[in-house]
Amino acid sequence: MKGRVAVLGTGFMGSAAARRLASLGFEVYLWNRTFERAVKLANELGGRAFRTAAETVSHVEAALLFLSDDDAVLSVIASLGRVDGLVIVNLSTVTPRASVAAARHLESFGGCYVEAPLIGGPRVVERGEAIAIVAGPEKCVEPGEKYVKAIASRIFRVGVNYGSAAALKLAFNNMLLASLVSLVESIMLLKAYGVDPNVFRDVLKSTFLAGIADRFYERVTQDRVDTTFRAKLAAKDSRYISQAAKEAGSLPLLSQKIEEIYNLMDYSGWGDEDYTSLLRFLRRLKAH
Ligand SMILES: NC(=O)c1ccc[n+]([C@@H]2O[C@H](COP(=O)([O-])OP(=O)(O)OC[C@H]3O[C@@H](n4cnc5c(N)ncnc54)[C@H](OP(=O)(O)O)[C@@H]3O)[C@@H](O)[C@H]2O)c1
Repeated sequence: MKGRVAVLGTGFMGSAAARRLASLGFEVYLWNRTFERAVKLANELGGRAFRTAAETVSHVEAALLFLSDDDAVLSVIASLGRVDGLVIVNLSTVTPRASVAAARHLESFGGCYVEAPLIGGPRVVERGEAIAIVAGPEKCVEPGEKYVKAIASRIFRVGVNYGSAAALKLAFNNMLLASLVSLVESIMLLKAYGVDPNVFRDVLKSTFLAGIADRFYERVTQDRVDTTFRAKLAAKDSRYISQAAKEAGSLPLLSQKIEEIYNLMDYSGWGDEDYTSLLRFLRRLKAH
């Protein structure tokens, strides 16, 4: 046994991480707001599920957070009470401001906080091939790193200042979402002019934009894709990008428009669809 670790939040990412950790020989202690989901995963992995986050972390040296947003992270952290000696690694995508608040709270309750947002979806996490962006003091990062290494094959350290890894993750998602949305807009434009979008795909693949075509073209144009990243979380990320930019005196540009688009998807009942279902959603919207 490699040690006990808690996974708080057993959605797509938390479940994938728990599977990976269990496969490497870690004993996984699971908590989820919807308890039944944690129980189901514990049964699958031979781990244990707990009713409260506080009880879960009382059995372990480290806890990994895979929660949807700022509110979820801050409320779960607040529910832990004293956490003397516990290392808490937050792998969720949150604002720099919330991450700093989480760190301050945990410090005052005896814990050690590592900011470690991930690049890569659940399948990548399950293979242990995610990219982690890490910030925090060495005294916390050093003991937390063995858990991050279990799920990430590349780790970029951005320094000791909390908020910096969260900002880098938001900057990455800004480019990811802007690339996807501009691809969708371009395919719709070509359709309106009766141009075969597959020729467009081939043109993209012959240029420096090949990576975007490889990553998104098939998923965007398919009739159905399995969800791995919910559209409502894409809305949340773009909201956090513009919010973080404004708070630091920078200028949000595309992120506000992208937030509007994904909010529309969410409010129309498509929030749990994959974020790459945007073209399908817009076509359905136009048809009605
Ligand atoms: N999916 C990806 O490809 C991906 C990639 C990189 C980063 N991320 C980030 O990783 C985090 C998790 O993403 P995910 O895809 O695993 O999302 P998910 O499948 O929607 O899971 C979200 C988790 O957060 C919990 N949660 C939501 N609100 C809560 C609250 N108020 N209090 C306590 N728990 C709450 C959910 O519990 P319930 O089961 O009870 O709803 C669930 O366990 C997010 O920050 C996301 O942006 C995702």
